[in-house]
Order: sequence, then structure tokens, then C-alpha cells
Amino acid sequence: MKVVSLVGARPQFIKEALVGKAVRQANAWQHVLVNSGQHYDNNMADVFFQDLEIPKSDYNLGIGSASHAKMTAALLVALEEVLVKEQPNALIVYGDTNTTLAGALVAAKLKIPIIHIEAGIRQEPKDMPEEINRVLTDSLSSVLCCCSNLAAENLAKENIHSGVHVVGDVMYDLFKLMKPKFTPEKVVNKLNIPEKFVICTMHRDFNVDSPENLNGILQGLNVIGSDFGLPVVFPVHPRTKARIKEFGYEHLLERVITMPPISYHDLMSLTLASRFVVTDSGGLQKEAFYAGKRAIVVMPDTGWREIIHEGWNVLCDSTRDSLIDGAKNCMANHPYPKALYGNGDAAPTLVKIVSNYLAEIN
Ligand code: UD1
Repeated sequence: MKVVSLVGARPQFIKEALVGKAVRQANAWQHVLVNSGQHYDNNMADVFFQDLEIPKSDYNLGIGSASHAKMTAALLVALEEVLVKEQPNALIVYGDTNTTLAGALVAAKLKIPIIHIEAGIRQEPKDMPEEINRVLTDSLSSVLCCCSNLAAENLAKENIHSGVHVVGDVMYDLFKLMKPKFTPEKVVNKLNIPEKFVICTMHRDFNVDSPENLNGILQGLNVIGSDFGLPVVFPVHPRTKARIKEFGYEHLLERVITMPPISYHDLMSLTLASRFVVTDSGGLQKEAFYAGKRAIVVMPDTGWREIIHEGWNVLCDSTRDSLIDGAKNCMANHPYPKALYGNGDAAPTLVKIVSNYLAEIN
């Protein structure tokens, strides 16, 4: 059996690390790795391959950045060639990026079954690019691997029942596996960070492409630094860096500790050493929870609603005052919720499910 696994953006490299490993351990199928190249900077891509010991991809489509239509269109063409040549028994796609949707569209037209990992996540607003990508990908998938019961319930509401499995979160598997290797003190020293701090990441279009929202967020970070005595450490995504320059907001970063994006190892180490997290990243809001840290989630809604329902993470608006309220909330003690996303064996579980599926259809 042959399965093509399609990655392209940071969070997908992280997920592939564990899924690819579980496939090799079980000797489950021939695993052909395709990197779309949606993320291409060394610290957005290569560093994850090295850090997480992901084998070199079999194909790199070198798509890079462009408008949604141009990126998706280029991917459709490039990926069709690969799938026609490889003739896999299935295609694995991860999460909610443009790479995910393009993969699903090409495979569906070639009648190649789609395995969607991290299926069933739903989030307002419905018109955000990631939500569009998720809904369409789920509707085309044959095997839908969900991180939680809530995700399976979301699919049921859309009448998607067949092929749905709750397996847990492969990012939790990875966190659990790598935790002994994280080095909070060492990374804090290496990056010359004060002992008490808050870690922040921000990259969503609705936060950083809007001058008003980005201003509110940066103002809020400044207050967290000054009034709460918690300097903010901010690895800046390239999209965000470009917007800060474009809007002339560099002065708002004078008291924020900025740096280029950092590796998985360093980000997890800093998260473990932090007081709390401020983010709009789907991955980091969960990883904060895995690390026992609370997170201010700067989004109108999140796909990871379980952690919000438990009161552990807090949603906030892109305004200074909302970030301040969030910080007050995160400074308070709160009982740690029980396991919400499986028990760390999502990758081997889903490999078994996919193997059974392939045996059934071939
Ligand atoms: C994408 C995903 C998002 C995911 C995120 C993880 C979509 C629609 N969104 O968002 O779901 O959470 O990845 O980071 O696919 N850029 C670089 N170098 C890079 C990559 C990007 O400079 O290596 C810059 C470019 O200016 C680019 C911008 O960042 O235009 C945005 O990149 P893009 O891949 O379109 O979306 P992300 O915001 O990274």
C-alpha cells in the first residue's frame, strides 16, 4: 500500500513528525512525503525537519507565498502531477491550511480517498480562510480523524457520520514524547530572557492585517509588560513583521522582546518557563494547556473550545482592554482540566484505523 502525506506549513510538519514515525514503526505502508513549500523560510520549515527528525520530503513543490487563489491554483497543478505519477491508495492531509484544501480537491477529482487528520474543528467566523479550508476538506474526506468528541459532534451536525474516529491529538503525543527533552532554563538563558515573562505569538489575518486590531494587541502587550511586570517575549511571524512595518508600529515594540520565529523545541521550552501565553495560534493554545500554562486566545472563537469551556484558556478581542482582562484572568489560579485530547497515542491509533480502511477498500 502507498499513502501520500501532504504537508506545507509549520503545524503540519509537527503533526507529520509523529504520524510518519508511527507509520514506520508499524511498517504500515509506503509513506511518500510531499512538502508543498507553503512555508519556506529556514525558521518556518527546515528547522522543524531537523528538530523533529522528519525524513527529507520525497517532493518539494516550492509553492511559497501568494494570494489564496494563486497559491491554491499552483498547488492544484503541481500536486496533480505528483498524485498521477505516484498513484497512491490514499492521501493524508492535516489541519486547515491552503495546502490542506488543495490536496483534498486534487485527490477528490482523482478519486483518491482522503484521510483528514484534525477533522471536525469548527470555528467562527465562517469566512476565515482556515474555516473554509476545514469545512470543504471534511466534506471530501473518507476517513476523518478527530481530536475530541466535540469535533465528532460538529461533523454529525453536518451529517458527516461515516469514517469518523475520535483518536486524540497527535500534537499531544508529540508534546508528551518530547517533554523530557525540553530545556526551559537553557533556552531562557540562551535568548537572554528575564526570569518572569509572558510568551506571545500572533499571525491570523483578522488580527495582524487590520491596523486597528494589531494596534490594540500591541498596546495590550505593552501594558502586560509595564503594569503586570511581565515582559512579553514575541517570536514574530513573517506576515506580522511585514504588517508592523507597513503600519509604522515599530515604536510599539520598544519594550517587547522580539525575535524571529523559533523552533518547536525552543517554543515549548519557553512556554514551560512562561507565566502565561498570549496567542492566536491553534497549536500553541493547546500546547500551553499541555504545558500546564493558561493562554489568552486573541480570537472571536476557537476550534479548541473544550479548553475555553473548562475556563482554562480565555478568549479575548483584539483590544488593549480585553488583553488586560485576559491577563488578570490568567494570573489567577484555576484547576487544571482533565485530559481533553486523548492520552498520547493518537498517531499509532490513527495508523491502525487507516490500515484497516485501506485493507477494506483494496
Ligand atoms: C498558515 C495557515 C494557518 C496556520 C499558519 C501556521 C492558511 C490559509 N493559513 O497561515 O492555518 O495556522 O500557516 O503558521 O494556509 N511568509 C514568509 N515565510 C514563510 C511563510 C510565510 O515570509 O516561510 C509570509 C509571507 O509574506 C506570506 C505570509 O507570511 O504571504 C503568510 O503566509 P501563509 O502561508 O499564507 O499563511 P500563514 O499566516 O502562515
